Amino acid sequence: MLIDTYGRMATDLRVSLTDRCNLRCTYCMPEEGLQWLAKPDLLTDDEIVRMVRIAVTDLGVTDVRFTGGEPLLRPGLVGIVERCAALDPRPRLSLTTNGIGLSRTADALSAAGLDRVNVSLDTLRPEVFRTLTRRNRHADVLAGLAAAAAAGLTPLKVNTVLMRGVNDEEAPDLLRWAVGHGYELRFIEQMPLDAQHGWQRADMVTADEILAALRTRFDLTAEGETVRGSAPAERWLVNGGPARVGVIGSVTRPFCRACDRTRLTADGQVRNCLFAREESDLRGPLRSGASDAEVAALWRAAMWGKKAGSGLDDPAFLQPDRPMSAIGG
Ligand code: GTP
Ligand code: 5AD
Ligand code: SF4
Repeated sequence: MLIDTYGRMATDLRVSLTDRCNLRCTYCMPEEGLQWLAKPDLLTDDEIVRMVRIAVTDLGVTDVRFTGGEPLLRPGLVGIVERCAALDPRPRLSLTTNGIGLSRTADALSAAGLDRVNVSLDTLRPEVFRTLTRRNRHADVLAGLAAAAAAGLTPLKVNTVLMRGVNDEEAPDLLRWAVGHGYELRFIEQMPLDAQHGWQRADMVTADEILAALRTRFDLTAEGETVRGSAPAERWLVNGGPARVGVIGSVTRPFCRACDRTRLTADGQVRNCLFAREESDLRGPLRSGASDAEVAALWRAAMWGKKAGSGLDDPAFLQPDRPMSAIGG
């Protein structure tokens, strides 16, 4: 088990497969990209599968999500999914992606054993997409979503970050569109995890603002705190249901008390929190011959030190050294 001193148990592993991305979302990274990890520093496919095996067989992990950067850029992705799906006990497997290239790989991923995907999409307007991501790939994302739905990678969730004056006016349109397609839309509060360190609290569109904007057009009924469980999204039924909308208020409505996450970066560092300032190196021990039991013990020790919360409300809060694209979203 991966337990911390506050009694939380981490059963949800998020594995970053690469820090690279084919978009350049303004709230994430600069136009020129970042200094990417060098190939030898990345865990190999075999190393990733071994880490996931240790997590599910020795440490009680039940859910594994592949993230990035953009995980579809990882050449071995389908094989990694297939090998993780063959583990006993078999973890539930999901992927968080920007959707580019998903139209080509959705069927193979589903056949390999991927259960579901979450796709990031911030706007319905191609020209706004181009401004926001600095790439002209809106149609690819829509095609990816359609292919994922057709491949049965459901429930299919769409993640949207609202930015003031850029796409915040679109919230109701996005929800109408998502409900029409059977996608579960979740609005995410922007977090101070950008590479440029440009996040300002006043710029962030808050959960309260998002809900107020949606309520001008939709009837939202709370499903109640109980169903939030350890999930970051609070959810509401839209116009009586069955469609739902979620809000991930990591900043104004933190869910740290119920957090069940542990993270592995693409270069083999365990992080006990998205906002942690320390990482625990497992790649070194892995490569110098550590046994499964030794790796598991190091992982347990890393989680034991998990702090109570993100520290976002602390006046002395400092962003983690690495941006979200390198940590894994
Ligand atoms: P589901 O299992 O489908 O609910 O996935 P999820 O919402 O946990 O995963 P996803 O990768 O879609 O993440 C959506 C957003 O949730 C991320 O972009 C983050 O903004 C936020 N998030 C995910 N994990 C954490 C976390 O550990 N802490 C905080 N504060 N936010 C997180
Ligand atoms: N704050 C909130 N969400 C972010 N994402 C990327 N950077 C940030 C940030 N600073 C979102 C992406 C994607 C998800 C994995 O994380 O848009 O939907
Ligand atoms: Fe890529 Fe996601 Fe960052 Fe956008 S937010 S640049 S899709 S890693």
